[in-house]
Amino acid sequence: MPSKLASSPVIPTQRTGAELLRRFVQAYWLRPENALWMTLRSEILSQCPLECPSIDLSCGDGVFSFLHCGGVFDPTFDVFTSIAELDRVGDEHADMFDCVADDYQPVIVSPPIDTIDVGTDIKKNMLAKARVLKLYSRLVEHDNNQPLPFENDSFQTVYCNAAYWVANIDQFLTEMARITHPNGRIILQVKLDSMRRYTLGAYQGVLGDRFLDIIDRGRSTSWPTIANRATWEARFATSGLSVETITPFITRTHAHIWDIGLRPIAPLLARMTRALTPKTRASIKREWVDLFCELLEPLCDPDVDLFAVKDEPAEVQYVLTPA
Ligand SMILES: C[S@@+](CC[C@H](N)C(=O)[O-])C[C@H]1O[C@@H](n2cnc3c(N)ncnc32)[C@H](O)[C@@H]1O
Repeated sequence: MPSKLASSPVIPTQRTGAELLRRFVQAYWLRPENALWMTLRSEILSQCPLECPSIDLSCGDGVFSFLHCGGVFDPTFDVFTSIAELDRVGDEHADMFDCVADDYQPVIVSPPIDTIDVGTDIKKNMLAKARVLKLYSRLVEHDNNQPLPFENDSFQTVYCNAAYWVANIDQFLTEMARITHPNGRIILQVKLDSMRRYTLGAYQGVLGDRFLDIIDRGRSTSWPTIANRATWEARFATSGLSVETITPFITRTHAHIWDIGLRPIAPLLARMTRALTPKTRASIKREWVDLFCELLEPLCDPDVDLFAVKDEPAEVQYVLTPA
């Protein structure tokens, strides 16, 4: 299915941090805390060129990588334009993004500057969404708990920002080492288990389990292999991976902002925006995006931390090489 190209494409110039933040806030506007996190991910990932052949493991709908690679969507597009299961998202923790409409066609102002050879994900619908972006040459449905369906030494760059979602993590890491060319690199952006402390869980006695469950909305059960740095590094060593660099980019402050965010009300906001005329939606979205860009801009720095005492980061980027 071809992506719809807007009539007068704009070739992106060197993007500034503020432009990048705006592109992420536009795409993820009803979850501005996700937009902040993804902007920081993209900024740090920019330190590492995605040399070809490249693979994006668990690419989801491809929107993160599309924006990271310099693609620009029309402001009418955002990830909330194609969602389902809105009634079940609250207590049943259904994934509202795991659906794709037949006419899903994000309007693209300019295509990505870089492309990625292969994208994989366990969810068919997410791959169908990624397909229309023309970012990936090939998309493969795959469960990362199974051996990767690629030859030895196939890729110069292996990227994954969802490794902590994989239960069979040692096999997954060994498989990543296997498919990476001896001169290639593996870029992993992993959450650390400090995330479990950067919540309101310590106030359970006052807030109660129901409060914490509403705020959590099932996300912690999606991370079976979240771990501290020492554990990640021990896993890398046993899987035949050497650490080239470690770059922290999400602080305790970022994690606490994300912990609350708009997660519990996002399905309601999405339903509300569905009820608007396109003109009203566009006008509210414009003001909303401006407001959140201003609010998030001071926080859009991998080192920002409002706490007096430094603590572990919540997410780090590892650049690894096959040993
Ligand atoms: C937080 S999303 C990240 C998606 C994308 N990388 C991004 O940055 O937007 C996690 C992704 O991991 C995928 N996933 C979860 N478990 C998986 C598994 N066992 N094998 C492959 N993909 C999986 C989900 O379908 C989802 O698309």
